[in-house]
Amino acid sequence: MSGIKNQINLNTLPSHIAVIMDGNGRWAKMKGKLRTFGHENGVKSVRETVEACAELGVKYLTLYAFSTENWNRPKFEINALMSLLVSTISKEEKTLMENNIRLQTIGNTDSLPSKVRKELQQLIDRTATNTRMTLVLALSYSSRWELTEAVKAIAAQVAEGKLKLESISEDIINQNLQTVGMPEPELLIRTSGEHRISNFLLWQISYAELYFTDVLWPDFRKEHLYEAILSYQQRERRFGMTSEQVNA
Ligand code: IPE
Ligand code: IPE
Ligand code: MG
Repeated sequence: MSGIKNQINLNTLPSHIAVIMDGNGRWAKMKGKLRTFGHENGVKSVRETVEACAELGVKYLTLYAFSTENWNRPKFEINALMSLLVSTISKEEKTLMENNIRLQTIGNTDSLPSKVRKELQQLIDRTATNTRMTLVLALSYSSRWELTEAVKAIAAQVAEGKLKLESISEDIINQNLQTVGMPEPELLIRTSGEHRISNFLLWQISYAELYFTDVLWPDFRKEHLYEAILSYQQRERRFGMTSEQVNA
């Protein structure tokens, strides 16, 4: 088991890993339990992934925890997810402080219940000066929402005469996204065997390496993360160039 970790080249780690944590409902159903049992058991996988990334030296970890579209789920499940968020956030403060991890969020957090917002803001403030790794929770997040907000913000700057139309660049777009200041994810992991992006970081993953595993999120452990990183490190990232150019 530890063998696999030793194969990882620490000099070529992705600086940012993004994860679509999927399969909680199916995991619970297979055990004859309610879907919410799956969400509860996904918390351990979050902790393992956060720890593993911090231990290795990954600088940014973004976890897709709740999408804009997830608001369409049954009210019972949404409520359970929101309470789970509150209880988990307050419990994880110790882990974040001990591991020197800073918490941030991306998404339309204004749409979250006030109790969740309050707990989140407290933990964001308390961990603001931590430097080992940044943990980003995507909450009420979707890429189309983020891009729409960015377009609105940029259009407003142009309308107010603060920005010239000709000055709009990829950099200006980056500056108006939720992920401003973060490096692009080099590795995107999705669990549960689904091969889709589900409205996650569409702009930012333009050149990310995609890794799909059949493991359901509540079963995801450090070893699974190591496997994903090893797969990433075996790939040649060409960015439009030829293999010969990359290796020159
Ligand atoms: C991921 O698991 C958690 C959230 C989307 C909040 P799911 O709840 O989507 O589980 P499946 O995909 O139905 O198995
Ligand atoms: C994506 O999972 C969102 C999160 C993991 C939070 P979903 O389970 O909601 O995605 P779809 O609906 O199957 O595409
Ligand atoms: Mg799902």
